[in-house]
Amino acid sequence: MSISKSSRLLVFALFIIVGCVVQGMDRDENEEKNHFIVFLQNKPVLNEVDAVETHLSVLMSVKKSHAEASESMVYSYTKSFNAFAAKLSDHEAKLLSTREDVHHVIPNTYRKLQTTRSWDFIGLSSNARRRTKHESDIIVGLFDTGITPTADSFRDDGFGPPPKKWKGTCHHFANFTACNKKLIGARYFKLDGNPDPSDILSPVDTDGHGTHTSSTATGNAVEGASLSGLAEGTARGGVPSARVAMYKVCWASSGCSDMDILAAFDAAIQDGVDVISISIGGGGFNNYSDDSISIGAFHAMKKGIITVTSAGNGGPMAGSVVNHAPWIVTVAASSIDRKFISPLELGNGKNISGVGINIFNPKKKMYPLVSGGDVARNSESKDTASFCLEDSLDPTKVKGSLVFCKLLTWGADSVIKSVGANGVIIQSDQFLDNADIFMAPATMVSSSVGTIIYTYIKSTRTPTAVIYKTRQLKAKAPMVASFSSRGPNPGSHRILKPDIAAPGVNILAGYTPLKSLTGQKGDTQYSKFTIMSGTSMACPHVAAAAAYVKSFHPLWSPAAIRSALLTTTRPISRRLNPEGEFAYGAGNLNPSRAISPGLIYDLNEMSYIQFLCSEGYTGSSIAVLAGTKSINCSTLIPGHGHDSLNYPTFQLSLKSTKQPMTTTFRRQVTNVGQPVSVYNATIKAPPGVKITVTPTTLSFSRLLQKRSFKVVVKASPLQSAKMVSGSLAWVGDRHVVRSPIVVYSP
Ligand SMILES: *[C@@H]1O[C@H](CO)[C@@H](O)[C@H](O)[C@H]1NC(C)=O
Ligand SMILES: *[C@@H]1O[C@H](CO)[C@@H](O)[C@H](O)[C@H]1NC(C)=O
Ligand SMILES: *[C@@H]1O[C@H](CO)[C@@H](O)[C@H](O)[C@H]1NC(C)=O
Ligand SMILES: *[C@@H]1O[C@H](CO)[C@@H](O)[C@H](O)[C@H]1NC(C)=O
Ligand SMILES: *[C@@H]1O[C@H](CO)[C@@H](O)[C@H](O)[C@H]1NC(C)=O
Repeated sequence: MSISKSSRLLVFALFIIVGCVVQGMDRDENEEKNHFIVFLQNKPVLNEVDAVETHLSVLMSVKKSHAEASESMVYSYTKSFNAFAAKLSDHEAKLLSTREDVHHVIPNTYRKLQTTRSWDFIGLSSNARRRTKHESDIIVGLFDTGITPTADSFRDDGFGPPPKKWKGTCHHFANFTACNKKLIGARYFKLDGNPDPSDILSPVDTDGHGTHTSSTATGNAVEGASLSGLAEGTARGGVPSARVAMYKVCWASSGCSDMDILAAFDAAIQDGVDVISISIGGGGFNNYSDDSISIGAFHAMKKGIITVTSAGNGGPMAGSVVNHAPWIVTVAASSIDRKFISPLELGNGKNISGVGINIFNPKKKMYPLVSGGDVARNSESKDTASFCLEDSLDPTKVKGSLVFCKLLTWGADSVIKSVGANGVIIQSDQFLDNADIFMAPATMVSSSVGTIIYTYIKSTRTPTAVIYKTRQLKAKAPMVASFSSRGPNPGSHRILKPDIAAPGVNILAGYTPLKSLTGQKGDTQYSKFTIMSGTSMACPHVAAAAAYVKSFHPLWSPAAIRSALLTTTRPISRRLNPEGEFAYGAGNLNPSRAISPGLIYDLNEMSYIQFLCSEGYTGSSIAVLAGTKSINCSTLIPGHGHDSLNYPTFQLSLKSTKQPMTTTFRRQVTNVGQPVSVYNATIKAPPGVKITVTPTTLSFSRLLQKRSFKVVVKASPLQSAKMVSGSLAWVGDRHVVRSPIVVYSP
């Protein structure tokens, strides 16, 4: 059970309920009610009307009347899940969770969100080989902040009618003209019923995030796209002929709620999407049966739909990766070969290359330069002024100047603008590997550069400086962004996560006309395209690549598509990325190779169920997660033990820092390359690790033939928290099928 307070609390709750009946339920009515999702023990799914009635009757057991039950019922999930969402007090939730027919109850949580040069950089050029006809049958569904229906990226010139399998809808909504043959679906989910004053109850995107991710995945080619001349070029999605469907689940003030995410899965699976792209952070769930994204994605997988998610922006902390269920593709963010600098010139002639995006050309040669702490409004605000916080600066002392301050919260550009300063130099040792957009001349520098600036300010009576408009430079790439969440996987020590890296730093894509570029008070900058960074931007690159692979292989399972993406990556330099595979998984996305992987590691629903059994999940919690009837794990754990999930990467977690350890991985590959072909094993083992593969040669005589092999990894002890890696590559005449092998000590 998820609501796992002590049993004493349960007794207390029961007491209250009994007491309430006697006292007319006053207590109960005053108690705060929150949203919960109630999962029922799975029965064969009834028809919709019966399911709703069943859900209501369960809910009535803790409510006074049918009317009260209906009123507190928020949603019945009737298509893929046997569950409902309702407004409950904590003790009502607890009572429900003790019912025989209720499996478990989880509190609804709110999650955060976390050019297109990027496609060229990873080798999918605008004239790449395509099966346009098939591509136009692929539907990519995104769960996000909505979409901009008027954006050029989603015009439907040249598109035929939606694919026949499409069952989705697109009504007229507020501020949402209509769908078309490109943007074929748009819905919104806001089940908590609270109005969101800064958003619009419509699939329209008031944030920009959803327009950005959907145009990165599926946008038409739009020539001459740029952010005020920066990153200029043709903006295009990875699969410009594919269709797009938006499921708005993220709202300006409240974020993205589990109830809405689950409802979006219920709808998208029924609607007939092929790929689901979710650029939403996880709630730090380590139990897959408590996590709406993991539950939804399992049901999607059963229907052949691949779910691609972002790994999270919690890096570089170890173990910060989210959305790590083995049936999901988890995407880290890497850089592309360009960066944006905002140069700063000091009055003494010294040039500094700060980071950030400001699209302002200086009007004067030099501006007076002051340090925030020296121009405080009064003696009490001296500390806050050194961070340029609101109401801390003296307008008469900063008018027309550049202000130097340290980063505490975002928004210094808005603050200095409101007091009439010209611009701001922000010192920070974080956030320097991607460029943020500012609403006033601004640049970011490290603390060592900050010291140089501060020393200069103190060295002269009339310090001056100027910030130039941002320039684009070549950069060494790919590097995994520092914000990108790292492994090891907190959900299972046997599965390597993140799975793969894709461009997520300084990505130019579509934006909304409903929000200024920074969204800050006083910002009057608007643009059809903007630059964003995050694993949110990396995720739609992989979702589009999955759609691209599917357009060549419409019948492949989600696991087969993931295998193709993972075994064909470009390796990333571990020297430049010290966390290695825990930062980038199998490597950097390489879509043009992924359509022809040679061999695939396939997996079906039962393999995941066996895996969950071997991870210690109970049969009944697996039944809820998987939407199956009852599961008896003792009949399902395969004889050859633990490491038999046919995953395309290998991870061994050592049990001790003293003893060596040996593990056998069993795997099976399916031939999807040349019918008659031979593959030889090439092994790279790190020092202290012995890796053997048997057999060392796999011979195939026909397509779809399967061959099994085992990999024995013998590792000497490692220092705690250390990770070493090698690889296994099956090398054939035309293909190299590469898998990383990771050994670490928790
Ligand atoms: C996950 O949570 C479910 C439901 O609360 C519980 O039955 C199961 O044992 C948990 N699994 C693990 C591995 O913790
Ligand atoms: C949205 O539509 C409403 C009703 O038509 C209109 O009053 C409002 O101005 C629109 N808002 C935006 C941001 O376009
Ligand atoms: C600093 O940069 C400015 C503008 O790009 C340039 O004019 C100036 O010559 C540079 N100064 C030095 C010392 O390199
Ligand atoms: C599960 O299977 C085992 C072995 O066949 C059997 O002994 C056990 O009773 C079964 N458990 C349930 C709950 O059916
Ligand atoms: C595999 O190994 C065999 C025997 O060493 C060799 O003849 C063959 O050329 C190799 N095949 C490939 C694709 O490297």
